Amino acid sequence: MTTLAIKTEELSRDFGSIHAVDNLSIEVPHGSVFGFLGPNGAGKTTTIRLLLGLLQPSHGTAQVLGFDAIHQADEIRSRSGALLEHNGLYERLSAEHNLDFYGRIWQFPATERRARTRELLTHLGLWERRGEPVANWSRGMKQKLAMARALFHRPQLLFLDEPTSGLDPSAAARLRDDLENLVELEGVTVFLNTHNLAEAERLCQQIGIIRQGKLVANGSPNQIRAQAGNPQLEISGSGFSNTTIQELRAHPEVVSVSHHNSRLTIQLRNPIETAPLLTMLVQSGAQVEEVLKTQSSLEEVFLNLVDEGEQYPEGES
Ligand SMILES: Nc1ncnc2c1ncn2[C@@H]1O[C@H](COP(=O)(O)OP(=O)(O)OP(=O)(O)O)[C@@H](O)[C@H]1O
Ligand SMILES: [Mg+2]
Repeated sequence: MTTLAIKTEELSRDFGSIHAVDNLSIEVPHGSVFGFLGPNGAGKTTTIRLLLGLLQPSHGTAQVLGFDAIHQADEIRSRSGALLEHNGLYERLSAEHNLDFYGRIWQFPATERRARTRELLTHLGLWERRGEPVANWSRGMKQKLAMARALFHRPQLLFLDEPTSGLDPSAAARLRDDLENLVELEGVTVFLNTHNLAEAERLCQQIGIIRQGKLVANGSPNQIRAQAGNPQLEISGSGFSNTTIQELRAHPEVVSVSHHNSRLTIQLRNPIETAPLLTMLVQSGAQVEEVLKTQSSLEEVFLNLVDEGEQYPEGES
């Protein structure tokens, strides 16, 4: 049993002269939420289609749930749920009948279909409205139902392609809450395409940033932020002696220290617990008035990475 839900090696797909997915190598551990971030046309949807075996790669391989995406796509699809660009709901059917219909496709017996329908609709706060035709529902409610549909057969892996796009901020936030709860409850691994950074930061343990088919960053939100520059501490106060500054410079987590007027700027290697550094300062007799921790936001990093692509379209990352 592999500990990886997804592993791709040099996965590539061309459409004519377009490298939609270009040498993508990623690993997604079981039980995690992986956020795949990128601007329009970056290759996010194409990647999901490759992982589900709906498209053949031009080059490279993908293992999904231990199965090969080229030769064992049926095995992958029966163990995965997907909410892609179209929600796949029948507008004229009620929520209950939509789910029941999917339950039949998955050959669940009637009692189990009813139980699962009730369970999911209750979790999503939609049980009371189960009898209404879906056509009358708001977009946010439809997306929730589509998520329930994708999870109906208790898949091990859930693919979501921009699930909150087109939702207003509060509907998007509610969907995210539900997603978070369902992931926890069902223990499902999630591959989430999004261009919403707050969403990725909120939900994902690991994020990959893709631009023009290429992976330009990969790691935890903190690791990705760290790529854009070191976190920094700005300390204002008085009594910063040369000895103290030397001591700070010798600290393994400190990259540099500069001192201007009443302000110390400390560049750190990693986002660390800063209390010990402050204690060191105070014990050496410094008066600390204000401490500011600065850290690039994921958004700054994302825009930097994506802008590099705009300026140097042929450039290597
Ligand atoms: N079936 C296809 N035929 C030709 N080109 C395609 C096809 N599917 C995707 N592409 C191209 O591949 C590139 C990646 O598209 P893809 O849909 O994967 O991007 P995306 O990251 O999902 O974008 P968005 O955020 O807009 O959904 C684009 O240039 C697109 O035009
Ligand atoms: Mg897409």
